[in-house]
Amino acid sequence: MLVEKNVPLQPFNTFGIAAKAMSLVRVQSEADIDALLADPACKAAPKFVLGGGSNIVLTGDVKPLVLKIEIMGKRLVGETAKAWIVEAGAGESWPEFVPWTLHAGYPGLENLALIPGSVGASPVQNIGAYGVELQDRFDSLDAMDLTTGQRFTLNAAQCAFGYRDSVFKHASSQAGDLPGFGLAGKALITRVRFALPKNWKPVLGYADIDKKMAQNPAWRTSGLPDALQIYEWICEIRRAKLPDPQVIGNAGSFFKNPTVTAEQCADIIAREPKIVHYPLADGSIKLAAGWLIDACGWKGKSIGNAGVYERQALVLVNRGGKANPVTGGEVMTLAKSIQTSVYERFGIVLEHEPVVV
Ligand code: EPU
Repeated sequence: MLVEKNVPLQPFNTFGIAAKAMSLVRVQSEADIDALLADPACKAAPKFVLGGGSNIVLTGDVKPLVLKIEIMGKRLVGETAKAWIVEAGAGESWPEFVPWTLHAGYPGLENLALIPGSVGASPVQNIGAYGVELQDRFDSLDAMDLTTGQRFTLNAAQCAFGYRDSVFKHASSQAGDLPGFGLAGKALITRVRFALPKNWKPVLGYADIDKKMAQNPAWRTSGLPDALQIYEWICEIRRAKLPDPQVIGNAGSFFKNPTVTAEQCADIIAREPKIVHYPLADGSIKLAAGWLIDACGWKGKSIGNAGVYERQALVLVNRGGKANPVTGGEVMTLAKSIQTSVYERFGIVLEHEPVVV
């Protein structure tokens, strides 16, 4: 096991923020964690698990021991009457894994095309887009306890998925949680298995996808689009409105879409008739955070090298590129200014999505 010192993290976070890991270990297998825990200094050290770096804001050099997950492999591991069970190592790239499944003949992940990050990080925030969330295609995952090295497997219920949420985002001592509920900072996901439906049907119904259907009328006569077609459409839709992190550093949606009660929503609509809102099954209302930020005039604005993307106000970007990168401090100053504006105008608290390190 090699502990690397003072490792630049700029290539390993999609914002492109320049910071260093004081110490970093590359984890390519479960045995690497066994070796790490056999070393008393490493066992005792606080640890930070780094996946694809697509959901983090680095505000300085990282002092905890960084575990860079490089566990690879993609394969079919089983099947049930209803689904293909496909497994991927936590270090696999999500945007490469999705087309691999489709070309191998296992549809179901196409709506989650082009989401930056690693397979291992995908269950942590229950990634979702265009009407599909990871939990809809999840079978189980393997993980290791970072203190004891013990291996364990979790099913969907044990992952406690919610909107951009899971057991991996909660600390066990968090008020209101059952004892032992949270796994934040305690577990390392090594492999994830997906149940991809044999009786596949496209998930349509999003305005952007409906627009693609309307622009391609051939589908009206030849039946519904196949998974690869949907994949290509989603790639086109995302490329049109979301910045490619290889070109402009960013961490995807910076804030979660807030939910309010029907009464709160009615109150806001009375003042702001154009507000974009979606009723949810439980009676609450989801508001489009991008719209709220846009309405406060933030689109295209910057503080230092931190900017609000011109085509989607929910995305904060690095305007300094690789040479003069944004700092985590600038990103968080911009985020706080946006939160203040949205709160002052709408009375709504926006919660940020990325983990601030
Ligand atoms: N809108 C504006 N101005 C903006 C941005 C959005 O008015 O600057 C309006 C749009 O016109 C639209 C509404 O807000 O009516 C919603 O926008 P959009 O369809 O782009 O989706 P979103 O709610 O902003 C969410 C996810 C995205 C996901 C898309 C598509 C969250 C936090 N974000 O964005 O996920 O790709 O839906 O399903 O839930 C991510 O998590 O990194 C991410 C990109």
